Amino acid sequence: MSTVSKQGKGEKFIAKEEKYGAHNYHPLPVVLERAEGVLVWDVDGKSYFDFLSAYSAVNQGHCHPRIIRALTDQAQKLTLTSRAFYNDKLGDFEEMMCKLFGFDKALVMNSGVEAVETAMKLCRKWAYQVKGIAGNQASIVFAKDNFHGRTISVISASNDSTATHNFGPFVEGITLVPYNDIEALELLFKQDKNIAGFIVEPIQGEAGIVVPDADYLQRVRQLCTAYNVLFIADEIQTGIARTGSMLASYDIVDANSPCKPDVLILGKALSGGVLPVSAVLANDDVMLCIKPGEHGSTYGGNPLACAVAMEALQVVLDENLVDQAKRMGKLFLDGLEKIAAKSDLITEVRGKGLLTAIVINASEESDVAWNICLKFKENGLLAKPTHGNKIRLAPPLVITENQVNTCLEIIERSLINVE
Ligand SMILES: Cc1ncc(COP(=O)(O)O)c(C=O)c1O
Repeated sequence: MSTVSKQGKGEKFIAKEEKYGAHNYHPLPVVLERAEGVLVWDVDGKSYFDFLSAYSAVNQGHCHPRIIRALTDQAQKLTLTSRAFYNDKLGDFEEMMCKLFGFDKALVMNSGVEAVETAMKLCRKWAYQVKGIAGNQASIVFAKDNFHGRTISVISASNDSTATHNFGPFVEGITLVPYNDIEALELLFKQDKNIAGFIVEPIQGEAGIVVPDADYLQRVRQLCTAYNVLFIADEIQTGIARTGSMLASYDIVDANSPCKPDVLILGKALSGGVLPVSAVLANDDVMLCIKPGEHGSTYGGNPLACAVAMEALQVVLDENLVDQAKRMGKLFLDGLEKIAAKSDLITEVRGKGLLTAIVINASEESDVAWNICLKFKENGLLAKPTHGNKIRLAPPLVITENQVNTCLEIIERSLINVE
């Protein structure tokens, strides 16, 4: 597998990261120095369409001027207070999220995985204080092939050996169930009275954009209600307009949505790719299980993050990015289907809105998808394989029709003569 393009100014930056940085990633050999909207530029001045969007964190487009203004304005006034004191931005941000997503309360953290940890802790508290499960007996169900982040407790729910190998011992009280399998979930709920929650991605992102049956989440909701289990939706990757609706799990304007989870987890695009901001939302019966001093984070809910995130959410609303993702997603998916019909290299096209992937006709161990991504790069488009043979294609939602068509041409051209 080739890693370094031996030409251009980028080489020295790559060498420095290799020498001084931990080797915990295997980046595509491109060194970026600036970005705007859908485009990023490398240190040699070459531009690329960004089809990763920092794993769907940059839905609003890179360096959105309104979000950057919110950042610089707030940075000159107040950046961090810790939660030892109140600040004049956190309440506004919490109110905005609660009203928009339809929950009583929000708990703001930083990275996505911290929000997942927060949801796990909240779920356990609820299990003992409300559901009445005996001390230390609560268990949380996760779907197989999930990705929820990298901390020890969260990888305890992973069945991906790359994520778990030699990181044990793991956290107890976790059970796995096949994704998109309602019968298996019901069987578990029936067998184990100590199940407190089910944490699930509405579309599995890192697994390669795995879209479940149309009624899966509604049936999950019904089962969770029937067995008094918290339905916890991890929308860190799918949320904030990415899939052509504000959230992939439920309709935020329908107060009686049949798929609404008990706990909603958000991150990534919540701040438009500008700062790490994540949040957990729930109603009072769940959220108030955590009392002062029982959970927190020095930076969680800092005024700089809140100002940025409020503007990032407002941009999504003002620019109607939900509709944009739906329309551009359809155009893009239709185009990919046409390319797939002509190319032996693509076995499947899948996705929703602008969260899409192509499955490459090669094993997970082969270099074919990597080599395709190198061809994409040569031709001015950046994407990265996931699980070896799937390539996620998820541009910022501000992409225009002309840009979608240009990118489809690049993708088609790049698939010729790849080995
Ligand atoms: C569904 C989901 N949950 C959680 C995470 C973890 O987020 P972070 O990398 O910000 O910790 C990710 C990251 O890709 C994700 O896709």
